[in-house]
Amino acid sequence: MSHDDRLFLVTGATGKTGGGAIKLLLERGHRARAMVHREDERSRALAEAGAEVVVADLHDLDGMTTALQGVTGAYFCHPILPGLVESTVIFAQAATEAGVRSVVNMSQISARREAGSNAARQHWLCERLLDRTDLLTVHIRPTFFTEWLKTWWERRGSEGYIRLPFGEGRHAPIGSADQARVIAALLADPEPHDRAAYTLHGPVEHNHHDIARVMSSTLGIPVHYEPISVEEFASAMTERGLPAHLVQHLSNVAVDYQNGVFAGTNDNVEKIGGRPPLSVEQFVTENRSYFDTSGPNFVPAPGSHTQRTAHE
Ligand SMILES: NC(=O)c1ccc[n+]([C@@H]2O[C@H](COP(=O)([O-])OP(=O)(O)OC[C@H]3O[C@@H](n4cnc5c(N)ncnc54)[C@H](OP(=O)(O)O)[C@@H]3O)[C@@H](O)[C@H]2O)c1
Repeated sequence: MSHDDRLFLVTGATGKTGGGAIKLLLERGHRARAMVHREDERSRALAEAGAEVVVADLHDLDGMTTALQGVTGAYFCHPILPGLVESTVIFAQAATEAGVRSVVNMSQISARREAGSNAARQHWLCERLLDRTDLLTVHIRPTFFTEWLKTWWERRGSEGYIRLPFGEGRHAPIGSADQARVIAALLADPEPHDRAAYTLHGPVEHNHHDIARVMSSTLGIPVHYEPISVEEFASAMTERGLPAHLVQHLSNVAVDYQNGVFAGTNDNVEKIGGRPPLSVEQFVTENRSYFDTSGPNFVPAPGSHTQRTAHE
């Protein structure tokens, strides 16, 4: 099959990493099929950008079978919601039947047999499952995304607050756009990476005091990191109506974070994706309008009345 005949399927194509990956595939002249959960303005934008759009559910064998017809390589990305193991089984079966050659599998750095998070342990099991197929398989294991800084950002007047249960733990935040470059590169050239599991990190490892300092100097306002307990974090998430599966996951990975599971950095993103990843400073600069707004906060301090329910 010539280069131009290849067709790549991107699941989660309206999400952060999938959205970036499909954009890059199209920019690079590839045939790309965007699998979306529903038709809406996001799916229409993908069609206008040149993607072939297919509507399917990751948990539906027939829908996945249709989505995978004629596909050479696929990016498989399931959100932190129940059903990851079943959808991976469905993906593996449908991809095998369709003659797909390769898969780039979204996992995470905390994926381990002994993980306390149900979602992280399921990611580990799904890696092992895909390794047992005939697909060329590569797993990406990002640390926390840089987008987290937006999710948990709280602006009170002319000061910013980050309230998270991360103690003095450290990580090098990695942006979804940088991950998208890795995904697109792995889809285009899967052979050298078969059965690899790549941890993905940003360029600089920080604790959240460092992150607050960087944000402060970039935004020109005081930014404070206020460590909170895992229990306070879990109660706030539950009160905001976040799904129990996500609350269980985030509560357990917070403990992992404090224990160093999310720490470290490497040059995987630059080596595979072809460009160094964005620093926190660059990310905050690029998203300055978001951080400049007095947006609602997620884990409000006592006496603070605003909140939000989104999670990224
Ligand atoms: N956030 C982090 O810090 C972090 C760190 C390490 C690893 N990860 C991993 O990253 C993955 C999430 O990636 P992401 O942030 O790029 O995704 P995302 O932005 O949360 O997007 C999820 C995508 O999946 C679609 N979707 C949801 N349920 C679906 C279903 N049943 N069938 C078909 N499509 C469905 C969504 O469509 P709709 O919007 O239309 O529902 C959306 O396009 C997770 O596996 C997580 O473990 C995240």
